[in-house]
Amino acid sequence: MSAQLFTDFSQIITCESPRDNAVLTNTALAVVDGRIAAIGAEKELSHRFADAEIVSGQGSVLTPGFVDSHTHALFGRYRADEYAMRARGVPYMEIARLGGGINASVTDLRHRSEDELVDITLPRIAELIEGGTTTVEIKSGYGLRTEDELKMLRAIRRVAERVPIDIVPTLLAAHEFPAEYKSSRDAYVELIIHDTIPAVAAENLAVFCDVFMEPGVFTREQTRTILEAGSAHGLVPKVHADEFEWSGGAELAALLGAASADHLGAISDAGIAALANSQTVATLLPATLFFLGKTHFAPVRKLLDAGATIALATDYNPGTAASPSMQLALTCACSYMALDPLEAIVAATAGGARALRLENG
Ligand code: NIG
Ligand code: FE
Repeated sequence: MSAQLFTDFSQIITCESPRDNAVLTNTALAVVDGRIAAIGAEKELSHRFADAEIVSGQGSVLTPGFVDSHTHALFGRYRADEYAMRARGVPYMEIARLGGGINASVTDLRHRSEDELVDITLPRIAELIEGGTTTVEIKSGYGLRTEDELKMLRAIRRVAERVPIDIVPTLLAAHEFPAEYKSSRDAYVELIIHDTIPAVAAENLAVFCDVFMEPGVFTREQTRTILEAGSAHGLVPKVHADEFEWSGGAELAALLGAASADHLGAISDAGIAALANSQTVATLLPATLFFLGKTHFAPVRKLLDAGATIALATDYNPGTAASPSMQLALTCACSYMALDPLEAIVAATAGGARALRLENG
């Protein structure tokens, strides 16, 4: 048996709820064989676990690990050139229309081998671990054809085997329409449901299936078709919903019992009510809007007042959120959305776990 006693912290934040006993002082935490065994008064626990190795917090704050429930952390190069274009005022969706955006990352990724992707990603995961993330969801979505979506998900699995944190894989074949299907969009949807989803399920490579539902990208009907095909293969739905313009993504996510509806910068009041009356978590990604130079953020207070569960994540990706820092996401949430820091920490830990259906794990 190995035991450690974490003591001398100014606060221990349990993240059970932002209200009741979430912030504990004069409290220690005992870990036995890698699992939390007790949280209690420092004096009592130092008697009970007298033989434990002492880990002193030196007055810092102890929180659960961050659960980053929305990332695109497996990619080739950063699209720094697009950041420069946006800084000059060209909008993200316009850059995408000009051949940049997600499709630029697709061209880049298709040229890279699975081994190369594993090698590029490992240091990026090390950076995120350094920032306190202990569980991270990673989406495919830069392959946009079966072989390259499989390449991404196999690389994610290999990375997961080599790092000391949990990685949750998501199929996002419906991230964009690849260039070769620009004028036959329904044919790409057919490819996803008849080829990509069955192939991914056969190798058990993903837990979730996600779609970027947005005007100009996947329609409501296409989104529904893809998510239902995913569900039929055991993949739990998630939706990139109402990011820039309202399209009813939050409403559809609630209707389909999705684990989460993500972004929500343009969610409607009906969408807020739909999420509040469902188990679907509202995942907020304020660092993306910050990187995009936007001043309008998701209506977090309305979501909380309505009774929705919120999660905070980074959206770490090569174009619109080029940082795996949960601290940055928390700072944006507090500075721009007026979230209380404790609410933000709960959303970045317990909220993220709910968005990944890991709250009991
Ligand atoms: O969640 N909105 C779509 N997908 C990503 C952006 C990915 C990219 O630009 O490469 C997002 O923001
Ligand atoms: Fe995303």
